[in-house]
Amino acid sequence: MLDGKKSLFSGMQATGTLTLGNYLGALKNWVDFEEEYETFYCVVDMHSITVRQDPAELRKRARSLLTLYIAAGLNPEKNCIYYQSHVSAHAELSWILNCFTYMGELNRMTQFKDKAAKHTDNINAGLYTYPVLMAADILLFQSDIVPVGFDQKQHLEITRDIAERFNSVYGDVFTIPDPYIGKQGAKIMSLQEPEKKMSKSDENPNASIFLMDDTDTIIRKFKRAVTDSESEIRYSEDKPGISNLIDVYGITTGKSVAETEKEFASSGYGDFKLAVGESVANMLKPIQDKYAELQKDKDYIDNIIKVNADKANYYATKTLRKVQKKVGFPERIR
Ligand code: TYM
Repeated sequence: MLDGKKSLFSGMQATGTLTLGNYLGALKNWVDFEEEYETFYCVVDMHSITVRQDPAELRKRARSLLTLYIAAGLNPEKNCIYYQSHVSAHAELSWILNCFTYMGELNRMTQFKDKAAKHTDNINAGLYTYPVLMAADILLFQSDIVPVGFDQKQHLEITRDIAERFNSVYGDVFTIPDPYIGKQGAKIMSLQEPEKKMSKSDENPNASIFLMDDTDTIIRKFKRAVTDSESEIRYSEDKPGISNLIDVYGITTGKSVAETEKEFASSGYGDFKLAVGESVANMLKPIQDKYAELQKDKDYIDNIIKVNADKANYYATKTLRKVQKKVGFPERIR
C-alpha cells in the first residue's frame, strides 16, 4: 500500500531483445492495472550487470526497453516507468536486506544455478545476491502484487520470506507482496526445444520470437517450430511443441484450448503454424509502429525519464528512511 492505494511493481532486464515470452508472460498483463494500483515498472539495469555488458549497448537497450514499455500500451502518465539505476534506494535497501538473507536460501535459487553454469568465468557476488536486489525493488514500493512469468516465482517466494523475517523483528514495515502469474502465457516455450522456456539469451535465433521481428520472420520461425511426428492439433503433455503453439494462439486470439482444437480439427500442422504466425504478427505490428514513432521523439522520452525517476525516488526514499531508522542508523541532521 502506498498512500492508501494498492501498489504494484514489476521489471525487466535490459539484456538482449524482448521475446514473445516476456510480452505474453508479463508486459501484456501490465496494462490492466493502472486504474486500481499505483504502478512502478522498472528497467532493471542494475541487475543486468551481473553478466558482463558492453556499456554503450546496455545504455541503448535500457532506453529501448523503456520505450517499448510505452509502445506496448503503458501510459507513462498513469504508470511510473523508470530506470533502476536512477533510484539509489534500490542499492541501499538491497544492502540492508542482504543482512537479513541466508546463504542457504540463496544457494537454493535455480536461476543462480543456471546462470552460474552458463557463465563459469564470472560467477560474481552480484549474481548470487541478485534475488536480494529484486526483493529490494519490490519492497521499496510496498508492493501488493508483482505481475511476472512463472520463472520468477521462486524469487517472489524469497522476497516474501525476507520481508516476513524483517517484519517479525521490527514490526509491520513491509507489505508482503503476492505474485500475479497470468493463467495463460506464464511460460512460453522455445520454438526449437519446447521443453525449455523461450529466453532472450538463447543462442539459436529461431528459438525465440523477438518483439521487433517483422511479419515474414515471425511466420518463418513459427513454420520451423519443432513439433512432433503426429498430425493432430491437440493439447497434451506429450506434445509440448503443439501445446505451446495452442497457448500462443489462445492468448493472441482470446480462444480457449477447446476452441482452437476445434477450429483446426481438420487442418495439418503447416496451416496451424501459419495461423499462429499471422496472429502473433498482427498483435505485434501496432506495438512496433508505436515504438518507431516514439523513438523519433527524444524530448518526450527524456521528460518521462526525468519525471518518473523523481516520482520513484520520492516513494522509494520514504520506505528507505523508515527502514534505516528501524535498523538503528543515526538520524540525518538538516
Ligand atoms: P526477465 O527480464 O528475465 O523477464 C521479464 C519478465 O518476463 C517473464 N518471462 C516469461 N514469461 C513467460 N514465458 C517466458 N518464456 C518468459 N521469459 C521471461 C519473466 O517472468 C518476467 O516477468 N529478475 C527479473 C527482473 C526483475 C523483477 C524485479 C521482476 C528484477 N527485479 C522485481 C519483478 C519484480 C528478470 O530477470 O526478468
